Amino acid sequence: MTTSSRTIGVFDSGVGGLSVLHHIRSALPDADLIYIADSGHVPYGDKSPAFIEARSLALTRFLVSQGAEAIVIACNTATAAAASSLRVRFNKMPIVAMEPAVKPAVAATKSGVVGVLATVGTLESARFAALLGKFANGVKVVTQGCPGLCEVVERGDLHSNEARRLIERYTAPLLKEKTDAIILGCTHYPFLSPLIREVVGEGVALVDTGAAVARELKRRVEVELPPRVTAGVLGSEAFFTSGDAEQAARIMSLLWGREVAVAQLPEEFL
Ligand code: DGL
Repeated sequence: MTTSSRTIGVFDSGVGGLSVLHHIRSALPDADLIYIADSGHVPYGDKSPAFIEARSLALTRFLVSQGAEAIVIACNTATAAAASSLRVRFNKMPIVAMEPAVKPAVAATKSGVVGVLATVGTLESARFAALLGKFANGVKVVTQGCPGLCEVVERGDLHSNEARRLIERYTAPLLKEKTDAIILGCTHYPFLSPLIREVVGEGVALVDTGAAVARELKRRVEVELPPRVTAGVLGSEAFFTSGDAEQAARIMSLLWGREVAVAQLPEEFL
C-alpha cells in the first residue's frame, strides 16, 4: 500500500517559499500542493510580529478551507512570529516550520565563524535567540539583516546589478570576520544562490533548510496522516496570491520553472 496523495498547504510572505516547494515536490511527488504568496503584504521582514501572526492565521484558515491536511510555514520570519500560535490553534494537524540552519552551519564551519543572512524580524526574534543558545556551541555567529533583498526576488530580478550590490553590501561584514559558512535564513535567498556564490567565492558553504524541511514534512505526513492509495498518480499544484495575480503568475512561473496559473485569494483573506 502506498501512503500518498495528501494535500499540503504552504505559505510565505511572497514567492520565496517556492524554494521550499521545489524540495517538497521532490520529497512527495504525489502530494497535492497549495501555495500562497502573501504578495499583497510582502515584505514581512519589517512588519510587527502581531501583523504577521494575524496574516499567518488567515492564510492557514484559507489553506484548511481548501483541504490542506498539513501546513508548511515556508518563511523564517512567519515561523518566528506565528509558529507557536498556529500550533495551538490548529493542534490536530502537522505544522512544519522553517528556521535558519544554525545547527548544520555550525557543523560545517572550519574557521569557527558562521554568518546568517535573514530578515530583521527573524534576527530580532526570541526564537532566533533561543536557536543560537541551543546550537551555536562556542562558534562565532555574525548576523546581517538584509532589507531590500527579498524584494529583488519578488521582482524576479535574480541577476541584476542592484541584486549584486545588495549581496556585496550584506556579505562584506561576514567575509571580513572570516565566515566560511553562510546561512540563507530567508526562503527568498536560495533563488539568489548563484549570484551569492559569485560574490563570496567557492570557499564558503551556503546553507539552507529547504531540503530538511521537506524531509521532516514527509516523515510527519507518513506518521500522522491516514494512508491513502493512489499509487503512481502525480500530485497537482495550485497557486494563490493576495497581490496582483498577473504579476504573481509571471514571477512564479519563472521561479517554479514552468508556466503556472495564479488565482487571487478571496477578499476575506486579503
Ligand atoms: N521569505 C521570508 C523568510 O523566509 C520573508 C521575507 C520577507 O517577507 O521579508 O523570512
